Amino acid sequence: MKYFIGIDLGTSSCKGILTDKAGNILRTSSYEYDICYPQDGWTEQNPEDFLAAAKKILAELSSGLENDVCGLSFGGQMHGLVILDENDEVIRPCILWNDGRTEKQTAYLNEVIGKEKLSALTGNIAFAGFTAPKILWVKENEPENFAKIRKIMLPKDYLAYKLTGVFSTDYSDASGMLLLDVEHKCWSKEMCDICSVSEEMLPKLYESYEVTGALLPEYGMPNCVVTAGAGDNAAAAVGTGTLREGRCNISLGTSGTIFIAQNAFSVDEKNALHSFAHSNGKWHLMGCILSAASARKWWLEDILVSDDYAADEAGVASAEDSNIIFLPYLSGERSPHNDVNARGAFIGLAANTTRAQMSRAVMEGVAFALRDCLEVAKAGGVAPTESTLCGGGAKSKIWRQIIADALGIPVKILKTEQGPSFGGAILAMVGAGEYASVEEAADAILETAETVYPTEEGKARMNAKYEVFKKLYPALKAVM
Ligand code: XUL
Repeated sequence: MKYFIGIDLGTSSCKGILTDKAGNILRTSSYEYDICYPQDGWTEQNPEDFLAAAKKILAELSSGLENDVCGLSFGGQMHGLVILDENDEVIRPCILWNDGRTEKQTAYLNEVIGKEKLSALTGNIAFAGFTAPKILWVKENEPENFAKIRKIMLPKDYLAYKLTGVFSTDYSDASGMLLLDVEHKCWSKEMCDICSVSEEMLPKLYESYEVTGALLPEYGMPNCVVTAGAGDNAAAAVGTGTLREGRCNISLGTSGTIFIAQNAFSVDEKNALHSFAHSNGKWHLMGCILSAASARKWWLEDILVSDDYAADEAGVASAEDSNIIFLPYLSGERSPHNDVNARGAFIGLAANTTRAQMSRAVMEGVAFALRDCLEVAKAGGVAPTESTLCGGGAKSKIWRQIIADALGIPVKILKTEQGPSFGGAILAMVGAGEYASVEEAADAILETAETVYPTEEGKARMNAKYEVFKKLYPALKAVM
């Protein structure tokens, strides 16, 4: 029997699955690690914590099957800056995708270098979470650390480097660095110059399904090839079969994303959506909101001090007619507003407002923020007619319905809901030669478990509320 491992290097934890070629999940393992908030709006993690978690996961998943594990790959949280010195030691903690410290550097890139130039060089404009503004921040604020940099990599590429000894990345994840010419799939010399880094500091580029090397002997899996892997959203897109032109996946993880597969490279008029490479050799458009399942977790666990999601959802189901609106900008917002200073808000509170109404508003606010991204895609002529849904938030039946109603499209839940780790396992199968392409593997393996259709009544209610929602950020921007 041959086995495959997919690792999802997430923000709250590292998750791993062991599958067979048919995609049956035979073992799972996950370990959490901390996020450090050194200042308001800053987020960091220790790359060593990623590695410690991944090592334990690999040992558990492969125990007793070491000779039969044939492939390993990754989906990883995107954009994080991991920098190593001449001894391959981590110089400082990884600055994460949802860190907002780079307002000044992002403004420099967008306003002084100019959005048009950035878009021409990379296919994207600067967002605070992207890697290039983080490099500029380190240069300006920690010159002693900047001077030590010999290697620059993304979180999952740090894992791959330590596990295989190969300094590699893939086009989908590299797209979020703002150093890649996404259309032509090569590092942009000009962007490297703008960020004062040399191409030698950057990893070698691969397609996500290409084999980069093998696990080092100490991991005891002598027959295991490793493929480059993908950014977590592109990996989730593999795990949900979002591969052919116009197919859409929505992820409700710490972040929320709407991901639309494209056969050819394209950009929207204002670069409000990210134009990134996909993990099947093609491209995609993506809107990313910074707080999705994390907004729900914040509201329930931190504010209501409860972990009883089921009881809370029972209340949410009966609060359909509430007028309360929630803006989910707890960590600022990426798409489409690109504003690190945006903040969350409840609007419409009254003396008789209930907890259930506020809990529902949190779920709806996340759905409306995703709709903002969908509206940008639609304005550019890209209008998905249905979507898959994955991520921790997709486990909630009521949230599935809210998403379908708010976006006005059916959402499909797949039998295997672990998007990025499942995508990683599929990329590993392709690398190991079990399938000829990512599409062939996904077609053979993936099955829909359930389709949730929008209801006429739900759509009408959500459309009316969205009309109010979309006026709130412009109205509140100045006071935020
Ligand atoms: C995508 C993004 C997030 C992270 C979360 O651009 O920043 O989805 O990848 O892990």
